[in-house]
Order: sequence, then C-alpha cells, then structure tokens
Amino acid sequence: MSEKPVLIAQISDLHIKSPGVLAYRRVDTASALERCVAALNAFTPKPDLVVISGDLADTPMAEEYEYLKRLLAPLTLAFVGIPGNHDSRELMRVAFPRAAYAFPAGPLNQSVEIGGLDLVLLDSSVPDRPHGELDAPTLQWLDATLASSPDRPALLFLHHPPFKTGIWHMDRQFLLNAGDLAAVVKRYPRTQLIAAGHVHRAIQTMFAGIPSTICPAPNHAVDLDLAELHEPSFKIEPPAFHLHTWFPGEGFGSVVTHHVPIGNFDGPHPFFGPDAWRPLGSRNGFSAASFRYAVAAVRIRRFSRFALRNSKGGNSKGAWAPFPCRAIAKEWPFASSFNWPRDF
Ligand SMILES: [Fe+2]
Repeated sequence: MSEKPVLIAQISDLHIKSPGVLAYRRVDTASALERCVAALNAFTPKPDLVVISGDLADTPMAEEYEYLKRLLAPLTLAFVGIPGNHDSRELMRVAFPRAAYAFPAGPLNQSVEIGGLDLVLLDSSVPDRPHGELDAPTLQWLDATLASSPDRPALLFLHHPPFKTGIWHMDRQFLLNAGDLAAVVKRYPRTQLIAAGHVHRAIQTMFAGIPSTICPAPNHAVDLDLAELHEPSFKIEPPAFHLHTWFPGEGFGSVVTHHVPIGNFDGPHPFFGPDAWRPLGSRNGFSAASFRYAVAAVRIRRFSRFALRNSKGGNSKGAWAPFPCRAIAKEWPFASSFNWPRDF
C-alpha cells in the first residue's frame, strides 16, 4: 500500500457543445473547460487521476465528444469518465474506446485501483431521462466489486446524487433507487466516500453512514433556490473542482475533500516576512533592507549572549549553531525563514 497520499481530482458537468455554440445560449463551456484543464495541469502535487463525473457532452452529439477530446488533449493527467443524463453511452464508448468498461454493452461501469485505493465508477444514467437509476446488473457488479478486495478502501463515483439537496427541480431527478445503493454499500465498510455531480455546486452530507459530496462545475451552477422562487435556473458562480485526498493509515486511512477554485488569484503571500510586517502608523511598512538589518541586530545580540555563555563553560558539546537558530525562531518566528547562520 502506498505511503503517500493519493490525490483524485474530480471535475463534473462539462456540458461541451459543438464548437462555437454556447450552452443555454449564454455559457461558454469550452472556455470554462480550458481554464479547468490549465488549473489541473498547474496543480502541485500532481493529482494521480482525474474523474469526470458525468455530463461530459450536452446534447449529446458525436461532434461534441470530438470537441471534448480536443479540449482534454492538453490535460497532462490520466482521466476516466462516467456518463450523466446529458451523455450517450454509445457515443462515449466510441469516443473513449480504451476505457476498461466492466460490461461489453450497456452501463459504463469501471473499477480502477490506484495506490492501494479502489475507485468504483457507477453509471447511473438512464437513456433519454434526466433522473438516475442503478440497474440490476450494475448493483450486482457493485456488490461483487466491493466484495472482491475487502481490505482496500473504496471511493464511489456516480453522476446522480443518491440524496436530495433541497433544490426542488433537481430533487426530482436524483438517484431514484438510492435505497438499493444504500443496501449494498452498508454491507462493505471499506466504502469511504460517495462522490456525485449533476447539481453543479459543492454539497456535502452523509448517505448510508458514508460521507458524500457533490462536485461543483467549471462553468455554471444550478441556482441555490431552496424556496421554489424561480423556474429551474442557473447562475455564473466561481468555478471549482474537488480534490479527494486519501491518506493511508490505520484501518482504511482517511479521506479529505478540498474545494479548489479555478482561476488566477492574488497570492500566495507569506504570513511572515518583510512584506507582512507593517506596524501601525507606518504607511509603507518596513523595507526589506530595514527588516534584514533588524533581524541581523537580533542575531548579533543573541549570538553575543551565547558566545559569552559558551566562553564560561556552557554548551561543551559544541552544538552551537542550532541553539541561536531555535532561540531566534522562538522569539521572532518569521526570522526563521532566513538561512542562519549563512546569512548572518
Ligand atoms: Fe449537468
């Protein structure tokens, strides 16, 4: 089993149209995916895998999947995809023929083992219908898959959330046979997370005693209408993806899901250092030079005290360097960012 964390990036609901066509005549989903791909490529450390949890295309049409492949070509990470209600199983099989689908036809279920972690990808789509459902072969396959390696933790991915969110029009098209899913996963404590898409916004809850999430989209969000105020609507909210981080450890380890905004943001800025140290009343703060002088003065004072003490017989082991380093770091934490004594 891997000792380092396994990073699974989840992106969802790409809704790629034909080139030049906007989704809902308003959303440039292709440009949104380009920004998402750039963010994934730039992320450090490099995620081990990207899971695309449904609605890869929009209509769907073969041309949309071809465009999707062109947009995903710059992605430097391996990826797997499962269908959503906007997808076609047949067109996805044609577009991604080398995926390790569990069945030769029908649902596009997959199982991926990565770094001691099992990813179980469930096809919850129902052809030509917006709601989700896991058919009998998929549930049997899930049961057999979870039973096959009981000592490894497993993360489940599917497009339709198996729980209601309070958004009225989405709650009519969630996973209709959620109880069947619960009955299976409750038999296997190795299921550590159920991760869905479909709602285009970040949501967390528990389902069947398992932490469950919905991944936001890189484009538009379903409006958070909890009072049935509007017709089904969307908003352009900050785009994001999820990063599921599995830490090996006792038992099945632990999973932490990070919400990662997509875009260029100011920073990172160090909490400590000359730029951060700006006393009240100082318009421009200290310059870097004056800060270094101040740090050097403290070091000289500290070292003088130490040398004096050492000359009187203290610290006979000669381990002189770490002591003032620790002393300075303790009294003035941001000074520890300097390389002492090389800078001294
Ligand atoms: Fe969607």
